[in-house]
Amino acid sequence: MKQRKLILAIESSCDDTSIAIISTNYEVISLLTSTQIDHDKYGGILPELASRLHIRNILYLLEHIFNVTNLEIEQIDAIAVSINPGLIGSLLVGLSIAKSISWSMEKPLITVNHMLGHIFANHLEYQDITPPFLALVVSGGHTELVLFETNVNYTIVGKTLDDAAGETFDKAAKLMHLGFPGGPIIDKLASQTNDSIFDFPVGLNRKDNFNFSYSGLKTAIKQYISSKSETWIDKNKARLANSIQTSIVKPLVNKTISYAKKHNIKTILVGGGVAANTLLRTSLLHEAAIINAKAYFPSLKYCLDNAAMIGAAAIPKYEKKLFSSLDINAFSDKGLRII
Ligand code: KG4
Ligand code: ZN
Repeated sequence: MKQRKLILAIESSCDDTSIAIISTNYEVISLLTSTQIDHDKYGGILPELASRLHIRNILYLLEHIFNVTNLEIEQIDAIAVSINPGLIGSLLVGLSIAKSISWSMEKPLITVNHMLGHIFANHLEYQDITPPFLALVVSGGHTELVLFETNVNYTIVGKTLDDAAGETFDKAAKLMHLGFPGGPIIDKLASQTNDSIFDFPVGLNRKDNFNFSYSGLKTAIKQYISSKSETWIDKNKARLANSIQTSIVKPLVNKTISYAKKHNIKTILVGGGVAANTLLRTSLLHEAAIINAKAYFPSLKYCLDNAAMIGAAAIPKYEKKLFSSLDINAFSDKGLRII
């Protein structure tokens, strides 16, 4: 039997500062996250403020996690940290701390792509997942379909050509003056009704095309909302949210299922903030069952940004000794890359 090792994981790519200790058999020993509510009043995330808050929070969380687990830092076998994509100032806070611990404690450093973290969040709760699997990654900045041949080899088989699904939820909520982030608000409103009010267009709606497009939908939502009065929007907000949600979720489900069916993939993983969406969860589970496939979603606590998922994505790299040297840098660009 393989000996259980411990990974200290750090996530600071956006506005959540998160630290976890997880074992190499995907057991979360402790997960602590500090959410930066300070951005709410600006209607979006202020990068400069985010990095300052990470600096304030991270050392406190680090000290606290060793207190609550009764572990000593010497007992940790490796340090994992997300280094892309994200806000560069925020990523650098986590990476600097990770490098300092790695250097001073002489522990290996494992650098992780944040989006891979969202995919491997599923492994924290489902131990039966084995490659090959198809992953749908849906977050504020990403919409991708990724085929994993092994846990460390993958191909992007579909991606958005313009905007992301989460961004579309956020933009729609902003236009409706509902607040930020928009996804959970639209999700909640949409669940109040089964009625839609308008058929918004679905981008690249062809079965053999596995790319996504949300810019046309964003424009259509903007035009529709600007043609209505505020009173009308307020009165019809649940039906409007329902229609918007349907048009965002439909291509995610259709393309994932078509790809899985065409290539006979029986395991589908969903990850990223939008994986929390009720309609996406229910329809993909339903459609996957029809083609005899199994869809996995992380539970809500692991859908949003958290360090446990970074630790989970680091495990295959730990096992293959894919460590990073201390001169590695963080970078903000979008995209999936194993580094
Ligand atoms: O993965 P995440 O926490 O951060 C990024 O890496 O972007 O995803 C945030 C995105 C936001 O766009 C947010 O509106 C969306 O996830 N989101 C949702 C839901 N919860 C969060 N979208 C739809 N339905 C939800 N329940
Ligand atoms: Zn994320």
